[in-house]
Amino acid sequence: QSGGSEEQKRRAGEAAADEVEDGMVVGLGTGSTAAHAIRALGERGVEVEGVPTSFESRQRAVDAGIPLTSLDESSVDLAIDGADQVAGDALVKGGGAAHAREKYVDASADRFVVVADPSKEADALDAAIPVAVLPDARPVVAERVGGLGGEPTLRAAERKDGPVVTDDGALVLDCEFGRIENPGELATALCGIPGVVEHGLFVDLADAVYVGTADGVRVTEL
Ligand code: A5P
Repeated sequence: QSGGSEEQKRRAGEAAADEVEDGMVVGLGTGSTAAHAIRALGERGVEVEGVPTSFESRQRAVDAGIPLTSLDESSVDLAIDGADQVAGDALVKGGGAAHAREKYVDASADRFVVVADPSKEADALDAAIPVAVLPDARPVVAERVGGLGGEPTLRAAERKDGPVVTDDGALVLDCEFGRIENPGELATALCGIPGVVEHGLFVDLADAVYVGTADGVRVTEL
């Protein structure tokens, strides 16, 4: 969770929801900022279908009265999703362990809008990169991450003895790389590790960033 205020998140989420038009298929992101967009879509009563990116966003869509569809039946017009850190056209995602589904849903969209508060903005990425791994592959992935200069930590569940398990049955290694000068290069390297399901670096995928501020929304087209 971020240090941003709920008001900032609300402004960003609602502004992104305003982009949605009747008939669209919307990618429904995960987290507290995207939740505002999902709620706003329901309140606006716009006729859309949603493709959820997690168990959580699926439940929020059901609560908001948004009918669901899948990538088998539909292609996504607009995806609205949060981020843990934003630096230019590069994001860190996966604070909610949903980055694998988020990545293929967001990447498949005609337009992908990031919704965030100012606490997420950075000159360069330096947040830990969540790496979802097949459970049995954890030791060898951890070793390879170390070889890339990262320090992996298995994400522990908060109310259970043991690790976080993603919606797809993966474990998550939060990998500290310090300041990441070349996110594209690191993204490619992480993708090349056998046993990695998906990592949380989103490079050159977003089309716009909506940042909720104290009195409005700052929109950056990428
Ligand atoms: C989920 O895995 C993440 O990618 C979220 O999109 C991210 O953690 C943003 O969440 P908040 O909007 O709650 O900060």
